Amino acid sequence: MIKILVLHGPNLNLLGTRERSIYGHVSLEAIDRELVAAAGEGVEIRSIQSNHEGALIDEIHHGRTWADGLLMNPGAFTHYSYAIRDAVAGVALPTVEVHLSNVHSREAFRHRSVIAPVCIGQISGFGWRSYLLGLEGLLSFITENRAD
Ligand code: DQA
Repeated sequence: MIKILVLHGPNLNLLGTRERSIYGHVSLEAIDRELVAAAGEGVEIRSIQSNHEGALIDEIHHGRTWADGLLMNPGAFTHYSYAIRDAVAGVALPTVEVHLSNVHSREAFRHRSVIAPVCIGQISGFGWRSYLLGLEGLLSFITENRAD
């Protein structure tokens, strides 16, 4: 069994109603359902959303005790949370950063991720499917590294 912690950062609880022209019409609950469906048997998905930096950090720390990988949309924390970056680096779980929007085509402050350098990769710009693409990459990485 491969266990994946999915973390959704601030304001993502508003998905489906928030700035739909940027983030689309799909709710967070629907994304979580799609992830579970895509994961299939043999993969457990546990999804948590928080608007609080410390709560996200606590979940990352806790993930060290049970998870095999981390799929995370850190929301705006992407661009400035050194604390979340240090948590990801500290637990050393393979991590994929995902964004619904293409952060590189938006405001300059979104072009930089302080978290991406401690991740195995970043997916950005495919709407809710960024999560599915991120999960696929994360599971491939975990499977290949287990086979080693
Ligand atoms: C986001 C991009 C961030 O810049 C923004 O602050 C978000 C959502 C995305 O998924 O596109 O809250 O992470």
